[in-house]
Amino acid sequence: MHWTNDGGGPSVVGMAVLTASRKRARTSSVGLKMLMAGSGILLVLFLFAHMAGNLKIFVGSAAFDHYAHWLRDIGTPLLPRTWYLWLQRTALTAAVLVHIVAATILARRARTARPVRYAHRPKVQGGYAARTMRWGGVIIVLFAVFHILDLSTGTVNPVGDQAHPYGNVVADFAPSRWYVTLFYALAILAVGVHLRHGIFSAARTLGQQSPRGARRARAAALVLSSVLVAGYLSVPAAVLLGLVK
Ligand code: HEM
Repeated sequence: MHWTNDGGGPSVVGMAVLTASRKRARTSSVGLKMLMAGSGILLVLFLFAHMAGNLKIFVGSAAFDHYAHWLRDIGTPLLPRTWYLWLQRTALTAAVLVHIVAATILARRARTARPVRYAHRPKVQGGYAARTMRWGGVIIVLFAVFHILDLSTGTVNPVGDQAHPYGNVVADFAPSRWYVTLFYALAILAVGVHLRHGIFSAARTLGQQSPRGARRARAAALVLSSVLVAGYLSVPAAVLLGLVK
């Protein structure tokens, strides 16, 4: 730091260096928010595609199992079988890691910018959804690990037949396994709450900054997350009600 020699504070050069370094930090925070928005959008696209696939269960066991087999054939004959699935798995894992690392750095920066905590925590925009982003994220990651061991590899599923995922899903949500259904329902609600705030924040980062834009972003976030929660919850609900067996 350059100081004036009259002991009166930072010189013009010092101020310029300080401003430039603050600007750099601010720019890279915007960059991190862009990374969060970009990786989040990829994850949301996956969630909608996955929901649409899950709804095939209402068409019947043959349609659902056919869809699961087709997942392994996407990209053939250009790509060898299952390559597309592995590319998707790699992209999703990378998106989750980028999302978590960017969120952690941004949260740490926000804390460093205000080392003394507020005596009364100010109301965060988005209310409940904004305040639960971190814990919601942890629940979703834990659920994803359980879910892959359950329905992708079949390791913890009572049937675990990879050739017939319809049977695995029906066995999963049997009334006697109410605790598994409850965990799924909680995780799906966490996804909904997380998404509501995430879509709203991404829309703001990507330009919806006016009051009208923010209102639109909030409404879109509510509609999209409600559709997703209803679509995902409909599967365990249908099994519990005996509509899918
Ligand atoms: C009731 C809700 C859900 C049902 C019935 C369901 C069903 C399934 C099934 C059957 C598979 C295996 C597909 C296959 O490999 O053939 C699967 C895989 C997967 N699901 Fe779900 N899912 C649900 C909710 C979710 C949610 C909320 C998420 C995200 C948070 C999610 C993320 C995944 C992932 C990452 C895979 C692994 C895909 C792969 O093997 O590459 N699922 N799901």
